[in-house]
Amino acid sequence: MKKVEHMYSELIKNAFTLVKQEIKSNVYGHDFWHIERVYKCALYIAQYETCDLFIVAFSAIFHDFYDDKFNSDTKKKEKKEGVKKFFLKNKISEEITDKIFTVINEVHFKGSHVDDAVSTKEAMIVQDADRLDALGAIGIARAFACGAYFNQNIYEPEIEPQAHYSFNEYRNNKTTTVNHFYEKLLRLKSNMKTEKGKEIAEERHVFMETYLEKFFNEWNMQL
Ligand code: ADP
Ligand code: NI
Repeated sequence: MKKVEHMYSELIKNAFTLVKQEIKSNVYGHDFWHIERVYKCALYIAQYETCDLFIVAFSAIFHDFYDDKFNSDTKKKEKKEGVKKFFLKNKISEEITDKIFTVINEVHFKGSHVDDAVSTKEAMIVQDADRLDALGAIGIARAFACGAYFNQNIYEPEIEPQAHYSFNEYRNNKTTTVNHFYEKLLRLKSNMKTEKGKEIAEERHVFMETYLEKFFNEWNMQL
C-alpha cells in the first residue's frame, strides 16, 4: 500500500483531483467517497495478492469516471478521452492505459445471470473492492440512494425480482430497491474473486440478510 502511494503520490493526488471535480455532486451513492473507499479497499486486498499496484490504484480511482449509469454514450466517450489525456500528459504508456481501461470495463456488474469473469488479477481486486462497497451498512445506504436515481420504489410487493440474461435486460429492468438486493447484492458474495474479498463479503452479506428480515417484519406489521 505504501509503495504505490509513495512512488506515484503526485500522480495519485492529481487523479483524485480530476475525479473529485467530475463527480462532486453525485447524491446517488456514487460520490467521491465511494471512489476513495474502493481505492483504499483495493489497495488493502492487493497486499494479499501478487499484482501490479499501479494498475490496481488507477483502475480504482477511475472505475466509475465514465460509468454508463450516469453518462450518455457521448459523455462516456468524452470522459474516457479525458482519462486518456491525463495518462498521456503524465507519460504513462498506451499499454498501461489500455490495461487500466480493460480492468474498468470488466469490473462492472452486467446482470444477475451474465458472466462476470475477469481476465486479470488487477480486475479481480478492483471488482471485489467495488462490490464490497455495495454490501453491508454502506451498501444498503448506497442502494436506496441509487434507487432514487432510477426513480424506483423502496419496495413494491407486486413486482417480483427478475433474472437478467443480458446487460440490456439488467439496465432496462424496472425494479424496486428491495428487489435489487435479490437481483444483485445478495448474489455478490458467492462471486467474489479474491480470498480477502470473500472474507469481508461474508460478514457484510449476513448483515444485509438481517436487515431484510427486519424490513419484512416491519412491512408485515409484526409488532
Ligand atoms: P457497478 O458498475 O458494478 O454497478 P457501481 O459502483 O457503479 O458498480 O454501482 C453499484 C451501486 O449502485 C451499488 O451500491 C448498487 O446498490 C447501486 N445500484 C445499481 N443499480 C441499482 C438499482 N437498480 N437499484 C438500487 N441500487 C442500484
Ligand atoms: Ni463503483
